[in-house]
Amino acid sequence: MRIAMIGAGYVGLVSGACLADFGYEVVCVDTDEHKIAALRAGRVPIYEPGLSELVLANQAAHRLSFTTSLREAGRRAKAIFIAVGTPSLAEVGSADMRYVYDAARAIAEVVEDFTVVVVKSTVPIGAGDEVERILQERLPRDRFAVVSNPEFLREGAAIKDFKQPDRVVIGVDDERARAVMGDIYQPMERAGCQMIYTSRRSSEMIKYAANVFLAMKVTFINEIADLCERLDVDVMDVSRGVGLDDRIGAKFLNPGPGFGGSCFPKDTLALTKLAIEAKAPIRLVETLVEVNDKRKLAMAAKVVRACGGSVAGKRIAVLGLTYKPKTDDMRDAPSLVIIPELQAAGAQVAAYDPEGVGMARAMLPGVEFADNAYACLEGADAAVVITEWDEFRALDLARVKEMLATPILVDLRNIYSIKTMKAHGFRYVSVGRGFNGEGSAGV
Ligand SMILES: NC(=O)c1ccc[n+]([C@@H]2O[C@H](COP(=O)([O-])OP(=O)(O)OC[C@H]3O[C@@H](n4cnc5c(N)ncnc54)[C@H](O)[C@@H]3O)[C@@H](O)[C@H]2O)c1
Repeated sequence: MRIAMIGAGYVGLVSGACLADFGYEVVCVDTDEHKIAALRAGRVPIYEPGLSELVLANQAAHRLSFTTSLREAGRRAKAIFIAVGTPSLAEVGSADMRYVYDAARAIAEVVEDFTVVVVKSTVPIGAGDEVERILQERLPRDRFAVVSNPEFLREGAAIKDFKQPDRVVIGVDDERARAVMGDIYQPMERAGCQMIYTSRRSSEMIKYAANVFLAMKVTFINEIADLCERLDVDVMDVSRGVGLDDRIGAKFLNPGPGFGGSCFPKDTLALTKLAIEAKAPIRLVETLVEVNDKRKLAMAAKVVRACGGSVAGKRIAVLGLTYKPKTDDMRDAPSLVIIPELQAAGAQVAAYDPEGVGMARAMLPGVEFADNAYACLEGADAAVVITEWDEFRALDLARVKEMLATPILVDLRNIYSIKTMKAHGFRYVSVGRGFNGEGSAGV
């Protein structure tokens, strides 16, 4: 079976490489010529654990190839996946659908035999209908079927998530398309993965509802953490005690600087806009968007307080820039709000990230980027952990203390033990860990 994948980004490239690894012939197509040239030369333009190896192996086996020509990619393809971006529309907040609809128009130009058009991008409810309308304007009705197949992979664990998903959701009402989708996902189904067949609109809603629910869990524990700081309660105990209830679940209950990334911020916002347009506003989600935005500013204020009320003229060392570890993705990362806030308050910021510096450089003007954590910390008046990369967990704390001009460490991910940090003589400020983690009794 031959599959075309439109969009060779985080989702398209991972999906394409994994499908090729299952044995399909996959052609990824992207309008970004530099990206395609790099991929053809065997260079994977993003950081995702295991992805380079997977891409190279499948390229070598002639199952995976890259092109800028949809005509070439679409030839003989049984299914054409759309995995292009759906970012927030500036100042409006709803999903910008231009890339998806452009892709649909381009598909209409190349389809020759019956083809399943699979919308993998996260799209508002009804977008599949619009894709169908676009295709119908240009193609006979029996030559295509439009399917919704949202993607649930997490960056940092994307290959495992794609190959062994909790479930595969397929929104389809055409029997021929259902058969093609069943064939494509047969390796997952055979391995015991739950296949959920629904209407196209339900499938589109499942993706938004799932993302918004997870964002809500994160926001919930963040607000509980703030309360814990006031009441001398350790949120880590609370999170554990609550998360072990399997009606709730332990995942996404880690307090931090607010969610970021390429999905939660734009998808929560898009759902609020969609709900308002549908005259069924979701107040809960509107509130969580606002709470999360404010939280990032509040984290900058927390750093200022930890530094005695002012960071003017101080050097602040930031460890971790990406929105989460094991990715180089900087989209909507909390660091993009926290660092400019500190700079505006007069701080000079040095930063280190194991994978994110390439993308961060252009997004964070005025920041001095270091090659490693210790170089970043040298001579700083305070250190701030924004992203919980594993390598920060194992830093030599005695050396860290020595490198800092003042031993202040603000840990926005709670990766260190309060006891250990105090024993080393740090002024250690974390998130939601009671007075000892420097809640309201401290800062
Ligand atoms: N990143 C994630 O973790 C994740 C997870 C689940 C779902 N999603 C959803 O998947 C979609 C893609 O996200 P992403 O992170 O991979 O985006 P991305 O920005 O990394 O990649 C999108 C790619 O599409 C290309 N493109 C745009 N228009 C094109 C066209 N007409 N023809 C060919 N290529 C085109 C761009 O050049 C880019 O390389 C979004 O809707 C997102 O919400 C993302």
